[in-house]
Amino acid sequence: SRKIQIAPSILSADFTRLGQEIRAVEKAGADVIHIDVMDGHFVPNITIGPLVVEAAKRVATTPLDVHLMISDPDRYVDAFADAGADWITVHAEACTHLHRTVSRIREKGRRPGVVLNPATPLTVLDYILEDVDIVMLMSVNPGFGGQSFIPSSLGKIWQLRQTIDVMGLDVDIEVDGGISPLSIADVAEAGANVFVAGSAVYGSDDYLETISALKKNGEE
Ligand code: DX5
Ligand code: ZN
Repeated sequence: SRKIQIAPSILSADFTRLGQEIRAVEKAGADVIHIDVMDGHFVPNITIGPLVVEAAKRVATTPLDVHLMISDPDRYVDAFADAGADWITVHAEACTHLHRTVSRIREKGRRPGVVLNPATPLTVLDYILEDVDIVMLMSVNPGFGGQSFIPSSLGKIWQLRQTIDVMGLDVDIEVDGGISPLSIADVAEAGANVFVAGSAVYGSDDYLETISALKKNGEE
């Protein structure tokens, strides 16, 4: 079993107390803070911009994992990097010049990642896998927290893990959507090592208990 990282998504946090909510999950064992940026165009919801990332950066002690669910993310990569995003992941479906976008994130000194929607095939990674630090596979259709895990994601995670291992690459496989203490074991078994959990963490009464259960079930 590999070492795993838990990335609570603040999408399900209490936004009136965002600073405390970030500190609370870090105290409970969060490894990174996942921030869902939505533009109402690439996905049917609008959430967070660079201003909030900058505020989160002032309280967070763990890396900020900024998930850009926006059309043409090139326009905003610099703004999010300058706001303090440590990891910046962009959707393959939203980038016309994916290699350029990933290169720009790297030039800004951040960890680049590519995200695939559930129906997007792994073949889009063929000429970019060696240039990224993270591949994030969506296990729900992006836009909202609290949806259920799409089971066909498991085979896709497994396939990606084979490819990365055969190529001998050091690329994180992050999975986003429907992760809970119940679903995490199969996802970890398939080969993921970074797990986003929004509603499972922030919807629970005891963050320490939930993050501990995620780690325990994911590492077994
Ligand atoms: C969905 C977001 C997710 C979301 C996950 O569009 O990208 O990060 O917060 O929420 P849960 O863990 O509740 O499925
Ligand atoms: Zn996300």
